[in-house]
Parts: sequence; structure tokens; C-alpha cells
Amino acid sequence: MRTSLVATVTFLATICTSGHTASAQGVADVTPKVLPDRIDDVPDAPGSPFPRFDNFSWRAFIALNWPALHGPANRGIPDRTKKLGDAGPRVWETYKARYEVFAPGAPKPAAWTSYDGKNPCGAADNETKTLSAFSHFADYNQASFALATLANPLIDQNKMYTRYEVRFSREQFDSIVDPNNNWYIKQNLPTVAKPGTFKDGSIEIKAAWRVLNPGDGSIRGRFYINKAMVFDPVATEQQGSVVCKEHEIALVGFHIVIKTRLRPQWIWSSFEHIDNVPPKTDEPDAKAVPVPYSFNSGLPPPTLAPMPAPRAISETNRPDPNLTMQVIRAQPIQPETMQMNRDYWNLADVKGTVWANYMLVMTQWPRIPGTPGIGNPGNPFPLGVSSTLANTTMETYQQRSQRSCMECHQQVSNALGRDFVAFMAFDATEPAQQAIAAVASRSRLNAAVRADKNAPGLESARSPFRSALDDDPSVKALVRVLQEQ
Ligand code: HEC
Repeated sequence: MRTSLVATVTFLATICTSGHTASAQGVADVTPKVLPDRIDDVPDAPGSPFPRFDNFSWRAFIALNWPALHGPANRGIPDRTKKLGDAGPRVWETYKARYEVFAPGAPKPAAWTSYDGKNPCGAADNETKTLSAFSHFADYNQASFALATLANPLIDQNKMYTRYEVRFSREQFDSIVDPNNNWYIKQNLPTVAKPGTFKDGSIEIKAAWRVLNPGDGSIRGRFYINKAMVFDPVATEQQGSVVCKEHEIALVGFHIVIKTRLRPQWIWSSFEHIDNVPPKTDEPDAKAVPVPYSFNSGLPPPTLAPMPAPRAISETNRPDPNLTMQVIRAQPIQPETMQMNRDYWNLADVKGTVWANYMLVMTQWPRIPGTPGIGNPGNPFPLGVSSTLANTTMETYQQRSQRSCMECHQQVSNALGRDFVAFMAFDATEPAQQAIAAVASRSRLNAAVRADKNAPGLESARSPFRSALDDDPSVKALVRVLQEQ
């Protein structure tokens, strides 16, 4: 009732002002619907902005989580013969993964309609879902304010590490591989002097996954579950080369960022599974079902623990199989956002599906987009420590931070000329020549280690976590040639 009233008011207000041509004015869609297509944009309109932006977020969440068509020719396309609740990989899972576009040695990425290319688990092609990264352990850690380092990992109640996945739409891929850009090569990354802009309609997703155990039978029906090859550091160490194992994985967190014509600083949306942590106010409580929380024991302490947070996982700080964690939601979710969640959960095509177990925790948007550029974060809204501008699975330790999504991405990316997109700075690599030189110097180190197993300071040369490039036969051959010269 409430939303349709708002829709009517907005519609009338828009008609009344239709003589004006203010760029961001328009008819705002605030009515929950279950469709394989998202809303294009969010115009300015009178009344509370939350229903307009939150409805945009939910429609995007549903469109991205629509069952996908299969095969390389259909990447990013929904299967319109299916319903939201039907089985199968989702549309966003057929988007390009970061490792398909940013591989060691900066090879030219395969076309959008292709799954070809190196895979960090060594799979034959990239249609095999993979939770891994060329830079091992990168997918274990959360983002931080510094581009040089990732931050802390998140551990669930089964003592399994949460794993992160980033994928992006065709528009974003086209911007990266545009011959005038070639941003998959490190030296071509946009800079302050030569800033880069992504195409309107670019969409990027960051997802958080729980790795399920065989004992998780009772909760399986509550999650969107898929299978993936998951990097296994223990087996990798034992075997001396990369080992990934197939696991069932359950979706626990979901960021969506969409660049639109009216909102060039992108619209920022974040969803979570309702069983992640105990409710802060009137969110559903897993305890009432009853099922366990994914990231909280349900027992005291009602605080984030341990603090300080566990250190970032790396080759020298491997996953600890005995660490336990306690996560809480630090800030309440906007009441209007919770109302939009309930409106969606009650729709016939959502009710009874796993998607009724996901909630929007926040949308953030540029309020005064102005002229986009490195100095203009777009006057983000909402702001401030009392708003939920974090996801318990992805900004676990930043929930009380002064920096919201847009402010942090302004600092780590837009201020550097990269249009709010953060991961390129981590992933873009050197072209083969430099990479080969690096491998050559590592293999000289390896030779030194073999000659003197007590040689100090050569830990990295002994590491079993070699990059995919180390094992590439053509690179090995080139290294031999270089060494013989
Ligand atoms: C503390 C700074 C910080 C905050 C706060 C933050 N991010 Fe990020 N985000 C990053 C960094 C750095 C990366 C790149 C590393 C990675 O993949 O995690 C990133 C990656 C992403 C990605 C993958 C694509 C990309 O741009 O690299 C998405 C999508 C994303 N963030 C959305 C969000 C949303 C939505 C919020 C708010 C709920 C948010 N971020 C809050 C720093 C931040």
C-alpha cells in the first residue's frame, strides 16, 4: 500500500514538473516487481529517496540473480523462460571474473563471448566456477583503505574462511579492453593526469561465499548454493603445486555497483543473507527458525571478536584452522530499507525461494552528481557513522568507520583517476617481458636455494605457492633461453 501511494505521489509530482527539463527529473519506480530486467536509472523526485534507490537495488539484485542462459555466446543473458526460484547458475555468475581479464603476464583477454584463458585453479576453461586468485590468498581478505594491502579475513562458525569473488558486466569489460585503454596492462592504468571513465551500464559485483561442510545439511535449503573449485592451501603445500578442490559454496554477501547516466559516481547496493548475525533491530532472527548464525555463536560476547582483527592471510600468514570469530551488526538498517525488504519477501515469486532469505542492508548514491571527475565523489548519501554503510561479510571491521563505500572508493580509486573501480590496481600485471624477467630471477633464486638449502632470506623462492606463470611451459622455455645467454 505504502509504496503504491508513494508511486502515485511521485508520478503526479513528475507530471506537475514535466515542463522543466532538469536532467535528473523523471518518473521514479518504487513498486516491487520480480523481473529479469533491472531499472535503468534513478531520477530525482520529491519525497523520501530511500524507496526509489532501494527499489533500484532490489530490482538489480533480482535481475542479476535470475537463472542464466548457458554457453559462452550467452554470457550475461537471463533465461526468460525460467522463474527467479528455478535452479542453475545466475546471470552475474556468467559475467567475466577478474582472473579472466587480469592474468599474469597481461595477456589479451578472450572476447566477452568466450570462457578461454588461464584459470587460477588450472581448470581447462573459465566456465568452471573457481574461488581462487592468481595472487594466492587474495580472495581470503577484505578491502582496506590502502591499495598496497588487503585487510582481514572473516571466519564462519565452522571455522571456514569466507571467500570473495569479483565479476563485472560486458560494459565494464568493454571499457577495460577498449584498444584506447587496455587497462589490463599495469602501465596503461588510468592516472590523475589521464583519468579513465567506464561506460554507463557498467556493473560490478563482489560476492562473499561460505564454504559448506558435509555437516551443513540442515541449512542447505536456506541459501543460494553453487559448486566451485576452491583453492586449498594445505593440499597445495603438501603437493608443491596448486591444488583446488570442489566444494559446495553458499552465498552470504553481495555488493552491486552500477554506473548510470544520471549517477556517474555509480549506485552502491549491498545485500546479506539474513542468517549471518543476530538482528540489530527488526531483521529476521535465525534463532527463531531455529538455525545457527553463520558468523555468530548466538552466545556472548555481543561484540566483534577477536579484536584487533585477524591479520590478512598471505603466504607468510596461512589460514589458521583453529581460529573462531564472533561478528555482530554494528549499525541499524534504515527502517524504510527494511520495509522494502518485507515488500519483496512477500511477492509471490520471491516467497518460498532462497531469495527471501536475503536482505538489502543499504543503498548509497551520489546526491549531486555534477561533473564527474577525480575531485567529485558526487555528494554521497547517506553518510555518517550512524548509517549502515557496510556489509557484515565484506566490511566486517569497518562497520563503525567514518568512511562509507563511496568515500573509500573515492580515496582508493576515483581520486587516482580510476572512476571508483578498485580491483584493477591490484590485478593489472606487467606484460610478459617483465613477468618473464621476474620468473627468471625467481628461478635463479631457486637454483641458489637448491645449491645451499640454508641460504638465508630465500623463503619466497622455496614457497610452494608459485604463480601460474612459473608453471607455464612457454615461459619456462623462455626463462631457460634467457639463462643460457
Ligand atoms: C575501506 C575501504 C572500502 C570500503 C569502505 C568499501 N570498499 Fe569496496 N573495495 C575496496 C577495495 C580496496 C577493493 C578492491 C579489492 C577487493 O577486491 O576487495 C574493493 C572492491 C569492491 C568491489 C569489486 C569491484 C572493485 O571496484 O574493485 C565492489 C563491487 C565493492 N568494493 C563495493 C563496495 C560497496 C557496495 C561498499 C559499501 C557497502 C564498499 N565497497 C565499501 C575498498 C572499500
